[in-house]
Amino acid sequence: MTNNNHKAPHYLIIMGPPGSGKGTRCPALVKHFGIAHLSTGDMLRKVASSGTTLGTQISQIIDSGKFVDDVTMEKMLREYIMNDKTCMTAGFVLDGFPRTVKQAEMLDTLMQDLKGSIQKVILCEIPDSLIIRRICGRLVHPASGRTYHEEFCPPAVAMRDDVTGDALVRRADDNPETIGKRLETYHEQTAPLIEYYAKKGILVRVDTSGGIDENLTEFLSAIESK
Ligand code: AP5
Ligand code: MG
Repeated sequence: MTNNNHKAPHYLIIMGPPGSGKGTRCPALVKHFGIAHLSTGDMLRKVASSGTTLGTQISQIIDSGKFVDDVTMEKMLREYIMNDKTCMTAGFVLDGFPRTVKQAEMLDTLMQDLKGSIQKVILCEIPDSLIIRRICGRLVHPASGRTYHEEFCPPAVAMRDDVTGDALVRRADDNPETIGKRLETYHEQTAPLIEYYAKKGILVRVDTSGGIDENLTEFLSAIESK
């Protein structure tokens, strides 16, 4: 059941370090608020697997643990939102954008164009020490973005998606070396956004170091409350 009938759109951001559970928490937000899940990582991985020159360039950037440039990211996101009915009517949760202060400023402009504003920024907090174990066991269904974990959230049939039965894969950037670089980039370039959104009074901190569905009700009420 969704809460979005006849209501103003919900605009949310979920942020946190790699492997902190951003993508895992999004289906609950999508179901509860009836909004779209916009994962810029998933969008980029689709381009990366397209076999084009741009795809190869993006794939190299992702595998290096660095970021795709801000202008390309804003353009890709803007085009997606403007052409997606759910985004334009019900709203969205941004997972992976913004990742730099420049992207946050670009998003402020985009929100003005949408005549709306981001209501909540959910910060997934987890110690760095838990991250490698979470990421190294991750299995994904590329077509839907559904995420599993071989130990913490295994699929019903080994290496198969529960819904479609398609094969699950490991992400190319899910290896200890790239994870170290992704974490470094996060702390350098994305962590300053915590202060950016705390100052606006819209930051909600959520401890995601517990079980996958732990505190789900509290999680959703913290996002609904003003
Ligand atoms: P992206 O795909 O966004 O990767 P990320 O930020 O590194 O985050 P992850 O997807 O790895 O982690 P997550 O927090 O979603 O964790 P998950 O829920 O899957 O971006 C990839 C790359 O694309 C970037 O490095 C960059 O190069 C590029 N990019 C993307 N956006 C960009 C932008 N805006 N600008 C520039 N470049 C951009 O959970 C991880 C695992 O843990 C799963 O297996 C899950 O089952 C398990 N798990 C989750 N929660 C729990 C729990 N509570 N208990 C036990 N297990 C759990
Ligand atoms: Mg993710």
